Amino acid sequence: MNRRILLAALAAAAAAIAIPAAAQQPKLKVGFMLPYSGTYAALGDAIEKGFRLYLTEQGGRIGGREVEFFKVDDESDPAKATDNVNKLIKRDNVDVIVGTAHSGVAMAMAKAAKDNGTLLIIPNAGAVAVTGPMCAQNIFRSSFSNWQPGYAMGEVAAKRGAKKVVTITWKYAAGDESVGGFKEAFEKSGGQVVKELSLPFPNVEFQPLLTEIAAIKPDAVYTFFAGGGAVKFVKDYAAAGLKKTIPLYGAGFLTDGTLDAQGADADGLLTTLHYGDGLDNPKDRSFRAAYSKAYNAVPDVYAVQGYDAAQMLGIGLAAVKGDVANKPGIASAIVAAKIDSPRGPFTIGASHNPVQDMYLRQVVGKDNKVIGVATKALADPGRGCKM
Ligand code: BEZ
Repeated sequence: MNRRILLAALAAAAAAIAIPAAAQQPKLKVGFMLPYSGTYAALGDAIEKGFRLYLTEQGGRIGGREVEFFKVDDESDPAKATDNVNKLIKRDNVDVIVGTAHSGVAMAMAKAAKDNGTLLIIPNAGAVAVTGPMCAQNIFRSSFSNWQPGYAMGEVAAKRGAKKVVTITWKYAAGDESVGGFKEAFEKSGGQVVKELSLPFPNVEFQPLLTEIAAIKPDAVYTFFAGGGAVKFVKDYAAAGLKKTIPLYGAGFLTDGTLDAQGADADGLLTTLHYGDGLDNPKDRSFRAAYSKAYNAVPDVYAVQGYDAAQMLGIGLAAVKGDVANKPGIASAIVAAKIDSPRGPFTIGASHNPVQDMYLRQVVGKDNKVIGVATKALADPGRGCKM
């Protein structure tokens, strides 16, 4: 071999060695397990859009690895959840699962993720158990615990002078825990929850319960509903004539992503949530501009949570150079990070749930206008979590 050919061969070998390890890794397999049908279908759509937006901003790579997607529609059906999550874990052999919206489904996913050691990032479902007794090194939430917005609204309702409140929600973990958070803060401040009304998920036959509220005449009503059910509840509450006489307070899902369909019936409603319209921070401005350019739509809280799930994955995988097997490395990077979210910067607490401001919002036209911070840097208590 002459000298020139030898040098060229050496240069090529050196270039191959210089390629970062991550670039040689296989594609990162990301499994979306989300509701693409049913009352939470819009939530799944927004979560996926938010996640993909972050990926596009990163040139299609997370932790240096290209991404391949696998998708399962969980239908917000807990009875199908174990089979559905096993399609991603056992059939598709995914590296990470991103899902879901419904707390009952999320609990089955968390069990499977814990048993199999699969990385799980929950971009909505607030089931308290997942970052409580079921907490694990490989399980994270980019959203909230059901307790958080409820607790913040309990403080707000008491400050606004309510003494006797009726609660109304779907009878499953999200509704029960949202009401639990509300009740904890409200009763600590001297208020009383005089009646807890509920109906099965995703039932929307609200009329008999609204008649009961009218008869009780409480100072206010606190509610958790989301998606299609929230649209119908707000319209039915107004149609029953209650909006004029009994203030309706809610966890922010009541009016997030729903205002086009609720129209004037939502006007003026007060809710608490970790996102809202009119947050004047640079990250939110750039996120909203990019989201509406990409999808011709205004982002809601679910889009933010999907975006932040991708950011958290990016932070974790960057720290371990794309080595998804290194769960301790991923966990310590995510817990150490200050996440630059459109909601404002937040951190992930020891039980892997966001520690974040809860905003007080009021519906003005098509906006959930932020009118203040209800509770600053609120952390879920993480009761029962032993990491
Ligand atoms: C839940 O099931 O945890 C949930 C669903 C929709 C919005 C918020 C929470």
